[in-house]
Amino acid sequence: MRVFVLGGTGSIGSAVVQELVRRGHDVLALARSDVSAAKSGEAGATPVLGDIAVPEPWTGRLPPVDAVIHMACDFSTAMGAIDRRLLDVLLPALAAQPNKPRFIYTGGCWLFGATGDGIATEATPFRPLPAFAWMVPNLQRVLEATEVDGIVIHPAMVYAGGGGVFQRLARDAVERDAVRVVASERVRWPLVHSEDLAGLYALALERAPARSSYIGAAIDGLAVGRIARAFAGRFGTRLPEPQIISPDAIAVELGEWGRRYALDQRLSGARARWELGWSPRHLDPEAEIAGLP
Ligand SMILES: NC(=O)c1ccc[n+]([C@@H]2O[C@H](COP(=O)([O-])OP(=O)(O)OC[C@H]3O[C@@H](n4cnc5c(N)ncnc54)[C@H](OP(=O)(O)O)[C@@H]3O)[C@@H](O)[C@H]2O)c1
Repeated sequence: MRVFVLGGTGSIGSAVVQELVRRGHDVLALARSDVSAAKSGEAGATPVLGDIAVPEPWTGRLPPVDAVIHMACDFSTAMGAIDRRLLDVLLPALAAQPNKPRFIYTGGCWLFGATGDGIATEATPFRPLPAFAWMVPNLQRVLEATEVDGIVIHPAMVYAGGGGVFQRLARDAVERDAVRVVASERVRWPLVHSEDLAGLYALALERAPARSSYIGAAIDGLAVGRIARAFAGRFGTRLPEPQIISPDAIAVELGEWGRRYALDQRLSGARARWELGWSPRHLDPEAEIAGLP
């Protein structure tokens, strides 16, 4: 298929581009800079210069595509307004495509709020973290759109080696000689390795029915204290115990969206496994951390 990706150089998008190219799809990737264009080109995609915050120029000259996968976000305070306007311009532009394209929209685990011991599924009502509440109307708009066949993927917390959501913990271990966790070490994170998540995007592209949603969680919830201790052990930090910081402190450091790290969540990836045959392979992050070079 000919697939146009937005955010193809990000934590999620770079793995998705790699997987799509590996599966023989023809990938076009929106790039907002020469650096991003070069990265996309090296990954085997054809760069299309453009910015999601200024969609008119590039949406007006889109070649025919079979699908669009949207994984772009700048995590600024304007991210909701940028995404809404992007859909305002992009969806009508896609109505002019010769064949109705599939459109995969990226939601996220933080739309489900804290679950405690319950396990959220695709049927669980949303209780979004305020910083990401804008995603709910936008994903509903994609699912209901007549211009495209909309599909939503809700990634769990995405990691790869010491990167993605693990990057902050790895950096703490190296730079602070102690690993900080937000709120409590009992907070659980649903997790997925970026390679496994990329496999889910590819399966959704190839097989998912229109108007379907899938949670991309390979591990329903792992206590962040265990992840922090694994990093402390791997890097031999002076303080082996996780250092607790408040959600307010992380919001000051990273912005309001940083509060996602304090959400105690369990999410089920069962639907993707049953309906799409998704079979994630990375199921032991602590062992992967211990084996990091
Ligand atoms: N990572 C997670 O754990 C996770 C979990 C659940 C949901 N999500 C959601 O998944 C989406 C992607 O997350 P991510 O972690 O992959 O983000 P990321 O690593 O920060 O990547 C963001 C991507 O968006 C692109 N981008 C940002 N602003 C742009 C602009 N103005 N114009 C064009 N491209 C732009 C970036 O391109 P450049 O290379 O040019 O910067 C990059 O390719 C977000 O909506 C996030 O909320 C992420």
